[in-house]
Amino acid sequence: MSNPRVVRKAVIPVAGLGTRFLPATKATPKEMLPVVDKPAIQYVVEEAVAADIANILFVTGRNKDSLENHFDRAPSLERMLTERGALEMKEQISELADLAAIHYVRQGVPMGLGHAVSMAKDHVGNEPFAVLLGDDLVDARTPVLPDMLAAQAKFGGSILAVMEVPDNQIHLYGCAAVEATEDPNVVRVTELVEKPVPGTAPSNFAVIGRYVIDPAVFAVLEKQAPGRGGEIQLTDALASLIHMPANAGGGVHAVVFRGKRYDTGDKLSYLKSVVSIALDRVDLGPDLRSWLLDYLAGGN
Ligand code: UTP
Repeated sequence: MSNPRVVRKAVIPVAGLGTRFLPATKATPKEMLPVVDKPAIQYVVEEAVAADIANILFVTGRNKDSLENHFDRAPSLERMLTERGALEMKEQISELADLAAIHYVRQGVPMGLGHAVSMAKDHVGNEPFAVLLGDDLVDARTPVLPDMLAAQAKFGGSILAVMEVPDNQIHLYGCAAVEATEDPNVVRVTELVEKPVPGTAPSNFAVIGRYVIDPAVFAVLEKQAPGRGGEIQLTDALASLIHMPANAGGGVHAVVFRGKRYDTGDKLSYLKSVVSIALDRVDLGPDLRSWLLDYLAGGN
């Protein structure tokens, strides 16, 4: 018998407008920008699958056809690769379509991350579920999702991932006030503020784009008024869950993330993701490293 509380589904919102990366994102979703030779979103789906979550719901908007095509079969391309003897690449291309059971729901108007997550209600049902932001890339060398799933099994309720950031950056994130638990990797969340006004943040713990959420969030989101920026904020809904009783799906904890992650919707962070991941590749790393050293020393 399977345990109905085990996390089986992941929701990946990809309906944002990507305005920070214009003009590249005018006709291409930011999640499809390549990080070395895979679109950013493929790393995110692979991360969910690596954590044994292979039921994925994309919350999409307009301009997302390329994303849907990426995870679908491509019969003429596969045939052409076979004819040319590029069998390894053909395998890679067809395996992509079998990576996960992928489902789609449209968000119509991008009214905020909380609104995007509320679109998942019918698909998710009454189970805890994971949310992975499609533009947030957690380096596969330092995964966080398995620790979050373990924390959910231990503490129940909802689990965030938080990362310590410098004072001058916390206003760019959702911010969590926390207190210690008996587990050195897990903290209890006592307050959440979306993008605090500089100088008012209750801590330096920034919430990153990985969540394990109790389905009680859907009822909260249904009644929630727009928050910062006029958007339905997921942070505000999670803040309500902090104060709800455990038997009603309340309680929020967080895993402290100390690994590498990139916001591929931000130009500088995107560039860092490409360089960092390419440097670690056996086929590209050594040549890129020696070129970079030479270039930085004034060569070309
Ligand atoms: P962001 O705030 O980074 O996305 O949302 P954005 O609005 O596209 O970015 P900018 O600021 O204009 O550049 C985080 C994630 O939530 C999704 C985005 O696609 C992204 O993966 N999102 C955001 C939605 O799916 N719907 C929304 O209404 C807002």
